[in-house]
Amino acid sequence: MKTIDQLGDLRGKRVLVRSDFNVPLDGTTITDDGRIVAALPTLTKLLDAGARVVVTAHLGRPKPVDGFTFEEKYSLAPVTARLGELLGKPVALASDLTGESAQATVAGLGDGEIALLENVRFDPRETSKVDADREALAGELAGLADAFVSDGFGVVHRKQASVYDVAKVLPAAAGDLVLKEVESLSRATTDPQRPYAVVLGGSKVSDKLGVIANLLTKADRLLIGGGMVFTFLAAKGLPVGKSLLEEDQIETVKGYLTTAEANGVEIVLPTDIVAADSFAADSPHEVVAADAIPADKIGLDIGPDSGELFAAKLADAKTIAWNGPMGVFEFPAFADGTRAVAQGIIEATANGGFSIVGGGDSAAAVRRLGFDEAGFSHISTGGGASLELLEGKTLPGIAVLAD
Ligand code: 3PG
Ligand code: MG
Repeated sequence: MKTIDQLGDLRGKRVLVRSDFNVPLDGTTITDDGRIVAALPTLTKLLDAGARVVVTAHLGRPKPVDGFTFEEKYSLAPVTARLGELLGKPVALASDLTGESAQATVAGLGDGEIALLENVRFDPRETSKVDADREALAGELAGLADAFVSDGFGVVHRKQASVYDVAKVLPAAAGDLVLKEVESLSRATTDPQRPYAVVLGGSKVSDKLGVIANLLTKADRLLIGGGMVFTFLAAKGLPVGKSLLEEDQIETVKGYLTTAEANGVEIVLPTDIVAADSFAADSPHEVVAADAIPADKIGLDIGPDSGELFAAKLADAKTIAWNGPMGVFEFPAFADGTRAVAQGIIEATANGGFSIVGGGDSAAAVRRLGFDEAGFSHISTGGGASLELLEGKTLPGIAVLAD
C-alpha cells in the first residue's frame, strides 16, 4: 500500500481524508469515542506537515433518495465537537458535502488547519451500486483536494465513492490507522502462530457465515458465545427456550460442526448459560446447564463455568482473534461472560500471545467494562472490515491503494 510519505511535501496542499467516525450516539452524546481517538495520529501527522485537511466521513445509514438530504440525527456535529476537543484546535463543519458550504470551508483553510464535510451518506451517490453515480460524487470530492488519504479502516470493505472511487482520481495513500490495522490482522491471517484461537460472539450467525467457514480451515479452536450460540445449541438438537435463534441457519451450522470435526478444529460451546425471564436489565435470572435451557427462559450470557472453560482454552493460545460480546454486556447482570473472555485474552497476551479485538461492539465492551486497552495487542476499529480480513477477502478500499 502507498503511504502518506509517498505523497511528497504536503505543506499548503489540500488533503482529503476518509475517516470512520461512525460512533455510537445517545442523542447527541457520543458514548464511545474510540474511532475518533484512533483517527488522531493520521490527522495530526498531516496537520503537522502543514496540510489543509478536509475530512469526509459517514455516520449511521441515512437513506436519502435524491440529492443531498440533511438529517439532523445523522449530522457529524457531535463528532466535529469531539474531534476539536481531542485535537485542541477549532474544527469547522461544512453544512453540505461538495456544495457552496464545503467549497467555502475548504477555501478558508490555512496550512495546518482542518475541517469536516457533512455526512457523506447524505448523498445517495456515496453508496450507489451504479459506478457512474459514485464516480460523479468522487469527482466532486476530488475537486476539493490535491491528494487523498484513506484512513477509515471500518469502512474499507465498502465499495463506496469516498472510500474506493475517489482513490482512483486523486494521488492516494493509506493512513496510519489503515496500515496498522492491516498489519495486525495479517498476523492472524498469514501463517498465524499456533495455537490459533478465535472467539466469536454477537447476535447473529448469519453475519459471520463467511468468517466461520474460513476459520474452519485456519484456526485450531473456535469458541462460540453471544446470541449466535443458540443456533449452535439448536444444531446439536438442544432446547434453547426463548433465546435468539436463527432457524434458517441450523442446517448450515450442522455443516460447520461436521467440517470442524473432519478438519480437527475444536469448536468450544458454553456448558452453562445465564437464563433470564425476559430481555431486560433487571430481569430475574439463573444459571442453567447449556443442554437444559427452560422453555420459558431467554439466554442472555454464557455462564460462569463457560467463562472458566473459555479462559482455559485461550490460556496457551499464541494468536487470538475476538469478535463479538459473549452476552448482553450493556446490562451489568449479563456482562460476566464477556468479562471472563476479555480477562482470559489479557492473560494469554501477557503470556506472549498476539491478540486482536475486532468489531465495534467488542472494542466498546472492553472499554465499557473498564479493561486497560494496553492488555490487548491490537484493538481494531473495524467490525465488518476486520471480519472480512479474517475471512481472507480482498477489500475494495485496500486493493485500490496498492502501489
Ligand atoms: C461500521 O460501523 O461497521 C462501519 O462504520 C461501516 O458502517 P456500515 O456497516 O454502515 O457500512
Ligand atoms: Mg456496522
